Amino acid sequence: MKKFIVFEGLDGSGKTTQVKLLGNSLKKIKKEFLLTREPGGTDTSEQIRKILVQKNNSYISPNTELLLIYAARYEHIKNIILPNLKNKIVICDRFYYSTFCYQIFANKIPKARLNYLHKHFGFNLFPDLNILIKTDPKISIQRSLKIKKKENRFEKKSKNFHKTVEAGFYNIAQKKNVFEFNGNLNEIDLHIKIIDFLNKKKFFNFFLPYAVR
Ligand code: TYD
Repeated sequence: MKKFIVFEGLDGSGKTTQVKLLGNSLKKIKKEFLLTREPGGTDTSEQIRKILVQKNNSYISPNTELLLIYAARYEHIKNIILPNLKNKIVICDRFYYSTFCYQIFANKIPKARLNYLHKHFGFNLFPDLNILIKTDPKISIQRSLKIKKKENRFEKKSKNFHKTVEAGFYNIAQKKNVFEFNGNLNEIDLHIKIIDFLNKKKFFNFFLPYAVR
């Protein structure tokens, strides 16, 4: 079954854990799926990711950032997402709406540039479902500090920047195919909510079990 599902949210919102748990749920019933992430997902795109996220790369102009994300996205969609969507469920950690929140909304780049890039270099591909995990910024900051590593160029940005990204995520909560979940819940309770939602909505033509239990 071909379905493209994306998890979105602030850094430390818990989305990466939920991506894995949904994968484990599909594995339990032997469905074919692929877990991937943005920026990244191919060798070239992972190289581009390094430029974007490493903390020692301090300043990148907003337009360059946007173009790098689309270079990585083009490679990822063309070589990984589209071929796998032919026969698999593809689950991606971040996609189009992260660009909207970080590069367009927070970096104040005109939306027309995103539209243009997505049309020409994003294959105009939109997810069948965006799962937006909304977590209290106090909790998400604590979570990202716990797992933090070399990848924190974005986390080093000002409080104001993060407030605007958060406002961007509030903004997308109203859009088509975006469904919001409470990321303040512990990871298992949140996973159960997501699975219950997908089953209730009959999003797949099969019933999903919980990854745990
Ligand atoms: P992410 O993989 O979520 O990092 P982590 O799991 O460590 O929280 O994302 C890395 C960073 O890339 C994140 O800070 C947000 C940023 N990003 C953008 O600014 N625009 C985009 O389009 C994407 C996909 C990510």
